[in-house]
Amino acid sequence: MPPPRWFQLYWSSDEELVDSFLSRAEEIDADAVVVTLDTTQLGWRPWDLDLGSLPFTRGVGIAQYTSDPRFSELVAERIAADEPEDPVKVTPQAVRTLLEMARNHPGGLLDNLRAPEPRAAVQTFLDTFSNPALSWDHITTLRERTRLPVVLKGVLHPDDARRAVDLGVDAVMVSNHGGRQVDGSIGSLDALVAVREAVGPEPTVLLDSGIRSGADVVKAMACGADAVTLGRPHL
Ligand SMILES: Cc1cc2nc3c(=O)[nH]c(=O)nc-3n(C[C@H](O)[C@H](O)[C@H](O)COP(=O)(O)O)c2cc1C
Repeated sequence: MPPPRWFQLYWSSDEELVDSFLSRAEEIDADAVVVTLDTTQLGWRPWDLDLGSLPFTRGVGIAQYTSDPRFSELVAERIAADEPEDPVKVTPQAVRTLLEMARNHPGGLLDNLRAPEPRAAVQTFLDTFSNPALSWDHITTLRERTRLPVVLKGVLHPDDARRAVDLGVDAVMVSNHGGRQVDGSIGSLDALVAVREAVGPEPTVLLDSGIRSGADVVKAMACGADAVTLGRPHL
């Protein structure tokens, strides 16, 4: 049996893109949609900044977008609008970045080097990948927009967990994004007991952030999780 596939959704600021992702997730028979709630803006990540590790800005890791018909429309609209580009200072690093964008964009390298799409795609991604105004009003619409089970990831407050369950989501994932979003956030294990108490014994509660051993799994399950997931250990 193939392993289950969950589609992770960053709620875009473009609602048509959200619908396009949801329908693509259904087409591939995804087993669930996981909506990540805690990344409406990227956290301040000093290590990534120090290392210059910002792969999206080089067109790395955005194939989900560049393969999407609605996203392609947004890129075309940006190019057609013909807004003045931010001036680029020509440095070896800038040339390397443009080369990498062209290499990572669908299509041939030579064509991509001449075309505006690779850079416009990165800019469009950065503008639209997430919606800083994401609210419960958006989440409320999900039930009508997809037949797939819905998991809300990044719940830490018991009131939010209860509200999610009241809305009919299929599971909540207690997570602080592995500590990658809000420095000094509450630990997910510390949030778990109150979340379980708030939703009662029935709803599915998952947990991640900091699970490193079997003992950690047992502790999480003793505190109310039905299952745990892993980020960095898997990497
Ligand atoms: C390199 C990296 C990229 C990640 N990207 C995403 C992502 O795109 N969406 C998401 O919901 N979580 C993302 N996460 C967070 C993980 O899904 C997960 O919540 C976290 O890593 C769990 O903590 P752990 O690493 O201690 O197991 C990412 C984590 C890492 C380390």
